[in-house]
Amino acid sequence: MIVALGVDHAAFPYKQPLAQDIEALGHRVVDCGTQNTASVDYPTIAFAVAHAVRDGQADVGIFLCGTGIGGCIAANKVRGIRAALCHEAFTARMSREHNDANMLCIGARVVGLSLASEIVRTWLTTPFSGDERHARRVRMLAEAEALLESQPS
Ligand code: RB5
Repeated sequence: MIVALGVDHAAFPYKQPLAQDIEALGHRVVDCGTQNTASVDYPTIAFAVAHAVRDGQADVGIFLCGTGIGGCIAANKVRGIRAALCHEAFTARMSREHNDANMLCIGARVVGLSLASEIVRTWLTTPFSGDERHARRVRMLAEAEALLESQPS
């Protein structure tokens, strides 16, 4: 798979180690920034990751900021993105099995690097269950998105 990976300044120290984890699993990383610890607006990076997934330049996206919250909010405003904020392996696994999440968000000020690495590995190695009830619910999310977009603002 191609994995779009982005971090803001708060999570910059996590980027390279996680990129190595992702590559060790046999995936290719698309680096969506940031490139240093200078302050950056998290939506800029989260949108870069989400747009890479939306536009087909990556199969899935991973984003980290201080809490993961801002990036998750931003990413879920992009059509077709199902971003999940996960701070342990259980929700990471469920976000794939039940929600078919195509973007993972983590807070680097919430979890240590080794747990972040476990979350990323769990998330990337867990497939969508394919179960009809979960597929129906994911379709409902897409339908709601399409309905919103069809309404005059
Ligand atoms: C940056 O200070 C911080 O706000 C950001 O990393 C993130 O936690 C936002 O949700």
